[in-house]
Amino acid sequence: MKKVLIATEKPFAPVAVEGIKEVLDQAGYEMVLLEKYNSADEWKQAAADVDAMIIRSDKANAEIIEAAKNLKVIVRAGAGYDNIDLEACNKAGVVAMNTPGQNSNAVAELVFGMMIYQLRNGFNGKAGTELRGKKLGIHAYGNVGKYVAEIAKGFGMDLYAFDPFVKKEDIEKEGIKPVKTVEELYSICNFISLHIPANDKTKKSINYELLSKMPKGGVLVNTARKEVIDEEGLVKFMEERPDFKYLSDIAPDNRAEIEEKFDGRYVFTAKKMGAQTSEANVNAGIAAATQIVNFLEKGDETFKVN
Ligand code: 3PG
Repeated sequence: MKKVLIATEKPFAPVAVEGIKEVLDQAGYEMVLLEKYNSADEWKQAAADVDAMIIRSDKANAEIIEAAKNLKVIVRAGAGYDNIDLEACNKAGVVAMNTPGQNSNAVAELVFGMMIYQLRNGFNGKAGTELRGKKLGIHAYGNVGKYVAEIAKGFGMDLYAFDPFVKKEDIEKEGIKPVKTVEELYSICNFISLHIPANDKTKKSINYELLSKMPKGGVLVNTARKEVIDEEGLVKFMEERPDFKYLSDIAPDNRAEIEEKFDGRYVFTAKKMGAQTSEANVNAGIAAATQIVNFLEKGDETFKVN
């Protein structure tokens, strides 16, 4: 009997685990559940004899991949796969996949939750400001960026997007203004919503120079990855520009410094929770289980990333 391990430090909603189990039951597979584990050793032990794994932001490094001697496929139930050591997967002959688009709406909704919370001063009763008529810059027009645009239209925002991988016409036909450079996007927009992945090209790319382009009262919303921010540059910029605010679902490494220095100018969630809804968990979890079955039974490699 094939074994599939769900290794999630941040657990899926129970309804998603039930959905995954149903898919695996139907295929005649055994599901092993490892939630809220405390150490990599715990994960390594659970992974020792499994054929497949489903993970979230869990760090599947070389040690984990090597410990999973029987592993054939690992699926990141979500979009970003920067937490999987792809080289280690290649070495071990393991296929790595993601489930693009499945949790995107949840992340997009959180963008607006954070913006409104900030604009209304944390709901403290003082007069705040509104989203209507403000310029929103979508930095990367992928699955999340598209949902952000759709919701922003309902709020009456003026939309701009920068994405060198998407045709200008495809952005334009959605009533969004495409811009040619990232600098242009940051110069024009009151709000920037980040949706770039973390990779060698993007890490620390949101730096002092780029942020300096933002107009007065600028707000940067990060539901992507903390690694794309140059944190030193961010602090320098926040020191010079008391009008600027930073809202992030992925607290920076220098969270304590920002909290101490910039009262009222940041929002950080307790734990990355953009994709933490029952709906997103069900969508991504069931997609991951289905992809595993399709791969192991039919060799279907859709959404392979290595
Ligand atoms: C993703 O890349 O899909 C999101 O960042 C969600 O991450 P999570 O599964 O850890 O919530």
